Amino acid sequence: MADLRGVRGRASRWALQTGFLRGGAVASTLYKATEPRLRRYVERRSPMDYDDASACFRGGEMSELVGTNYEKSLRNLWKAELVAPHLGFKDATRIEKKGAADDSHGIAKLIAAATTEEVKRELEERFTTDQRNALCHIMSAIVHGEAYALYTSASLIPIVNGTGAKLGMAMQVMEEAKHFIVLREAVRTLGGVQPLADSARILLDNIARAESYTKLFGMNVLVESFAISLFATFAEYPCLNQILPQFHLDESRHSGFVKNYAKAGGIPKHVTNSAAEKGKRMAVVAPALPVIFDYKPSFELLGIDVFEFFGKFLNKVTRLAEDSHMPLTIPRKEFLAQVNFLANAYQYYYEPGQWGGFRDYTRIHEGDFTKEITAVEREVFGAELFAGLSKRALTMGRKMLDPRLRPTPRGTRGGRAGKRGHPATA
Ligand SMILES: [Fe+2]
Ligand SMILES: [Fe+2]
Repeated sequence: MADLRGVRGRASRWALQTGFLRGGAVASTLYKATEPRLRRYVERRSPMDYDDASACFRGGEMSELVGTNYEKSLRNLWKAELVAPHLGFKDATRIEKKGAADDSHGIAKLIAAATTEEVKRELEERFTTDQRNALCHIMSAIVHGEAYALYTSASLIPIVNGTGAKLGMAMQVMEEAKHFIVLREAVRTLGGVQPLADSARILLDNIARAESYTKLFGMNVLVESFAISLFATFAEYPCLNQILPQFHLDESRHSGFVKNYAKAGGIPKHVTNSAAEKGKRMAVVAPALPVIFDYKPSFELLGIDVFEFFGKFLNKVTRLAEDSHMPLTIPRKEFLAQVNFLANAYQYYYEPGQWGGFRDYTRIHEGDFTKEITAVEREVFGAELFAGLSKRALTMGRKMLDPRLRPTPRGTRGGRAGKRGHPATA
């Protein structure tokens, strides 16, 4: 019996290895070949009117409108609590109530802080040219993401029901506009905004084109969790450290919106439970896989493990999806265990030199980010965010990838032949 189990174990490991090495390479080659065509297809159908090569909406920059109709409106955003306290609104900050002008969140100060010569010097001292390029590549994705968020949030206003929900979404549109213009300026200071990778353009356009609750899921669960993860990771980088903690706070509120909306009964039961709706949400999440590989070299240049980044991001997505009554087709823990296994298996088979043993890529530790950021994330996502995968899931994964149990491929000794180039990262 024990022998039979051993044979079965070896057979399943052999099937996994063959499937991973052959199937993964074929799927990746096919995807790489179709990606540019897929991009052109989504661009033709895009509702966005946005050009990611210049990071501008089509129709021109219209700087005068930025100054008079955007900045001035933001500057003069008066607070009902101060002008009519008897109405009971609580929209003023403590400093505003004291009578001092709180300019710490003002756009002019944020842009000025991001363009000083000291910041540029610090960047040059701390990072090589390639690393600055990689940072621009990653941060550019979120600049374009903010432009998409501006459009997508605006198109969600007619979709959400209830006064509070429409007001909340309207404020989100305003904040996304601020994020777009401030971050674009900061990334221009870093070295210039770069176009979106094809995979990211496809992912964002899919969400902008999605309908009703799938669009709400794509925007307030997926894109917001991605933004939160990026802002938490780069919160202490020069040129970004003054602004990203503010962005992180805003995006956390946007993630909280969808949770509160669900709690208030905004998500119909059939949207939560129907297999078709769950499938549509999975289809929104799935394009994140090629995004990982398109941005992997840039993360690696900065010394950030891309699987760890995306694992933690998916930890947030799945937590928020369930809290927002918009779960995926498989339960959260199971989804995370599968993602984690794939990340380990990828490294085990394609980058054996970098594989340091089976580990939980989805786990977020208390000390991963600053104290302030951890506190905000705990409030939005709950303490379970830091729990990690079950021992059972980790043990099962470990057994499947145990090098001592691995069958020896014909013609080699020991099996670990060294790094194999995966077409996805070529
Ligand atoms: Fe944003
Ligand atoms: Fe947002």
